[in-house]
Amino acid sequence: MSILVAGGAGYVGSHMVDRLIEKGTDVVVIDNLSTGHRAAINPAAHFYEGDTRDRDFLTEVFTKENIDGVIHMDAFSIVPESMKDPLKYFDNNVYGMITLLEVMHEQGVKRMVFSSTAATYGVPERIPIHEDDRKEPINPYGESKLIMEHMIHWCDVAYGIKWVALRYFNAAGAKPDGSIGEDHHPETHLLPIILHTALGDRDHIDMFGDDYDTPDGTNVRDYVHVFDLADAHILALQYLAEGNESRAFNLGSSTGFSVKQMVEAARDVTGREIPAKIGPRRSGDPDSLVADSADARNILGWQPQYDDVHEIIKTAWAWTQKHPRGYEDK
Ligand code: UFG
Repeated sequence: MSILVAGGAGYVGSHMVDRLIEKGTDVVVIDNLSTGHRAAINPAAHFYEGDTRDRDFLTEVFTKENIDGVIHMDAFSIVPESMKDPLKYFDNNVYGMITLLEVMHEQGVKRMVFSSTAATYGVPERIPIHEDDRKEPINPYGESKLIMEHMIHWCDVAYGIKWVALRYFNAAGAKPDGSIGEDHHPETHLLPIILHTALGDRDHIDMFGDDYDTPDGTNVRDYVHVFDLADAHILALQYLAEGNESRAFNLGSSTGFSVKQMVEAARDVTGREIPAKIGPRRSGDPDSLVADSADARNILGWQPQYDDVHEIIKTAWAWTQKHPRGYEDK
């Protein structure tokens, strides 16, 4: 039996595939390579290039392979891009989910672990955020993921497709040997931008706003290592295989770091200067996002290995130094 990773060529997806293969699992990857990289996919996976919105393509993959469960990581995920182009997000993310659920239902595949996001909460009612707290997304990306969560819920009610939604906070870091890592075009995420500034590819980093309601005025986020995220999916698959109830879990380290603190920590790790300036706010950014991940720890048995942001940055720095132009260097 195989696990299908939809979006397995992406940043989190490629680490997911690597981790599953390391644990001896048979892995099928689908990806349209619109933002993912072929070179990021562990060669032991069976790779099919195609789009999740393409019903015939999905049916062919599900017919050829003996798929037992789906890890759905196949979505656009850039908050500022979603503010500019919401329909791109609803088309790819929501329509992709409809097709995948339809084909799962037709083929009798009953388990899905879904990459959801802290962006489903919008402006949180309290910090740390608990799974049951109010969800009012303030950007189309978060809205698309919340809709997708609701869709799987109703497919559980109607067709018995059991699910776990994992609401990631800020995915960061890379495989420690530097062989796979984060490579977006254009890059919008904080840590890679900081590290490319450390390399000298950029002359400075703009910190987007210092008038937020946080201790130093810059946004606070909860950074969690991609391998820890991947391990939570493996535990979630086991949780579903044991017949447990469908539900969502937060995945974060439960410690918030501000943009300024991240720049400082990266200066410590890299020993580089990393010039930084305060710029205007970026739209769609809540002040703080920090997870209460107690349920993932207590119910799934999740034990993140990277509890120090310096260790996370070290792994991302190994990747950045080894692949300054990302997968083009492979
Ligand atoms: N930031 C800067 N300068 C930059 C880039 C980012 O100051 O050049 C700031 C942002 O304003 C934000 C923080 O750094 O406050 C983190 O920004 P990212 O773009 O790295 O990440 P986001 O918090 O916007 O989003 C990420 C994922 C989403 C997910 C969200 C959940 O990309 O998919 O975390 O917390 F929903």
